[in-house]
Amino acid sequence: MYNKNFWDERYNADEYLYGTEANSFLVKNADSPQGPVLSLSEGEGRNAVFLATRGLSVLGVDCSEVGLAKAQSLAQSRGVVIETEVADLAEFQPKENHFGAIVSISAHLPSAIRHKLYPLIEKALKPDGIFLLEAYSESQLSKNTGGPKDIDMLMTVAKLRQELPNLKPISALEIEREVSEGKGHTGIASVVQYIARKAV
Ligand SMILES: C[S@@+](CC[C@H](N)C(=O)[O-])C[C@H]1O[C@@H](n2cnc3c(N)ncnc32)[C@H](O)[C@@H]1O
Repeated sequence: MYNKNFWDERYNADEYLYGTEANSFLVKNADSPQGPVLSLSEGEGRNAVFLATRGLSVLGVDCSEVGLAKAQSLAQSRGVVIETEVADLAEFQPKENHFGAIVSISAHLPSAIRHKLYPLIEKALKPDGIFLLEAYSESQLSKNTGGPKDIDMLMTVAKLRQELPNLKPISALEIEREVSEGKGHTGIASVVQYIARKAV
């Protein structure tokens, strides 16, 4: 499902829908990622820009040209350089054995796309590279504080373990937390927080 127009329209405003500050789970684990970093569904750039301010080289991929244009403006305003690529993750082919970390923040994708993309993610990580994800969990379905209303796009630790069998979980949580990320994500939410490593 390629929903470029939906996201281009949502981002078509001066305001940053999810704010300009990085996701707090990423910030908390900022010492984990080594570069280069691939950020899936980067959107308006808040996470890529944060990683770049920490000296990491970052490629942010998203289907929204409007979102990634805002990402480049944010990078410029913070005095950092990020690489961005407009692509549908259903077709995206990351370089193999290349990334020190792959970050997935609120990158909710249908299982049909994940089943194609996640094996490529495993291959794209360098040995010892990490995959770091925060996403709304299936328990979020009954809440109106953000996230897709489609259980197939919501995550669980069990789905992640099954869909990324070649990465070893370092930390795997399903929790409730207060999320405050622009207008787009606000309030108590059920999330999955997952960090896994590729074997050396
Ligand atoms: C909830 S937003 C999260 C944006 C960003 N990760 C953040 O945390 O601020 C979801 C993002 O997924 C992107 N997206 C959805 N489907 C996609 C697809 N098939 N390929 C690439 N990007 C996609 C949207 O354009 C949007 O930027």
